[in-house]
Amino acid sequence: MADHSGEAITPNAKNIVWHEVSVTRDAIARKRGHRSSILWFTGLSGSGKSTLANAVNAALFELDLSSYVLDGDNIRHGLCRDLGFSDLNREENIRRIGEVSKLFLDAGVIVLTAFVSPFGADRERARSLVNEGDFLEIHCAADLATCETRDTKGLYAKARAGQIKDFTGISSPYEEPKNPELKIDTGLMDLDTCVEVVISKLIELKVVPDLASNA
Ligand code: ADX
Repeated sequence: MADHSGEAITPNAKNIVWHEVSVTRDAIARKRGHRSSILWFTGLSGSGKSTLANAVNAALFELDLSSYVLDGDNIRHGLCRDLGFSDLNREENIRRIGEVSKLFLDAGVIVLTAFVSPFGADRERARSLVNEGDFLEIHCAADLATCETRDTKGLYAKARAGQIKDFTGISSPYEEPKNPELKIDTGLMDLDTCVEVVISKLIELKVVPDLASNA
């Protein structure tokens, strides 16, 4: 592991003891009527990660479920404001978000993360922090041409003009997920359909109750 300047970080705090909590994740799930989960949205800038994560979050909110969105652009205004876009800085960004997501999982919350998270190894490290089934990788698979045509933030134009370096898809790589739980072509499907696909997956995995089946 390395810090954001590239220096090695060794876990060196001594005399620390793990404390078990009395309100467990299982207890919270029983009381709230749904499990917690990490929905890890990954994809190019402009692929619709934030839009889809926010729309799924709104649908979960309407169902009275506890959920929260961690968004790359927003988190970089605070928790990760010390990080840029070098490979090492992105690794540290995703390491922190993996750890924060795990805390949300313990708190009984469905956490939706919307980060480019371009490197497979960094995503796998985040996945490895939690049990199998608790981490759903959702690839927002709009292709580069689609994202660049949209260019909602004008960043692709700047990257092409050489005004932004290390820009994902242009001058920095994006490693596509090999086995995502969901691959959604956000360039082809409309938002409502994308939301339905995600919610159906959560019902299938019994993260959220199938309210329609009780009707
Ligand atoms: S990540 O690679 O470390 O996961 P993150 O999701 O936090 O990236 O931030 C990506 C967002 O920052 C993009 O949506 C875009 O708005 C902005 N951004 C600014 N510079 C870059 C860059 N060089 N590469 C990618 N995104 C960038």
